[in-house]
Amino acid sequence: MLLLTLGTAAGGGVPQWNCACPGCSGARAHPDRRRSHDSLAVLADDRSSWFLVNAGPDITEHLEAHAELRPGAGCERTPVVRILLTDAELDHTLGLLRLREAHHLEIFATAPVRRALRERLTLDTVLTPYTTITWHELPTAGQAPAVAAGIEVSAVPLSTKRPRYAADAQEDDTWVVAARLHDPARGTTALYAPALAARTEGFTKEAAEADCVFVDGTFWDDEEPRRLGISARTSTGMGHLPIDGPDGTASWLAQLPARCVYTHLNNTNPLVDPSAPQHSTLTGQGLEVAQDGMVIEL
Ligand code: MLT
Ligand code: MN
Ligand code: ZN
Repeated sequence: MLLLTLGTAAGGGVPQWNCACPGCSGARAHPDRRRSHDSLAVLADDRSSWFLVNAGPDITEHLEAHAELRPGAGCERTPVVRILLTDAELDHTLGLLRLREAHHLEIFATAPVRRALRERLTLDTVLTPYTTITWHELPTAGQAPAVAAGIEVSAVPLSTKRPRYAADAQEDDTWVVAARLHDPARGTTALYAPALAARTEGFTKEAAEADCVFVDGTFWDDEEPRRLGISARTSTGMGHLPIDGPDGTASWLAQLPARCVYTHLNNTNPLVDPSAPQHSTLTGQGLEVAQDGMVIEL
């Protein structure tokens, strides 16, 4: 399978329109530092079909930017778009509105995520005059493959972190998952977890057996959001394990045999500057930072 990182930024992107922090200013001065909202395209080996993990506000530019994702010769349209959602956050779902020209959208998400999108964001009401939506439960391991031919897709439950617009939702259920992508022909597995609130037993086990793991790289350290004044909460308090520090993900991921790649970088993360010393710290641990448009063949 082929994994294409369409975007690699957290909500707001880099630069974020209303921000002039060093990361945002740096990206304005150096366009190669710009990052769009995180999303992943997954292609089976025969390249005949693809699906998306998350659809952020940049989604149609993403699809246009990659020849593999454009409509084939003679086709006016890409009729069906299949999207797996890891959560209901706006930075992972606003792109659904931008895909309204599709003949048909197939959306795979957990029950609380589907409910939030249908009842709070009223996606059916807004999109039904434009397209047809079929909502699906996310497959769990061992279920028949439903998302894509040639790739077994399942969800690894992660946390009950809700989007702010659904903060009062009653369902104390799985709001956030990691996508698990397994290519049975090649025997390879990737995980995509742009929002990791805690190290669950299930995800720890899956990560130990995977070949490639995309992980939440929102904040470098736990105090970053408070230090930069963007939140009264720590990184962990915001539902994102930091990269560095005693409870950071780097020390754990460095021990895994998998290729580990940080994504969903916030504009405050020093890693958005390619000359930041934090890059050598990660390289020394054998860890990577995703770039928009990165291709990983597994
Ligand atoms: C998150 O990743 O925690 C959310 O996307 C934050 C937000 O954009 O409100
Ligand atoms: Mn986010
Ligand atoms: Zn900024």
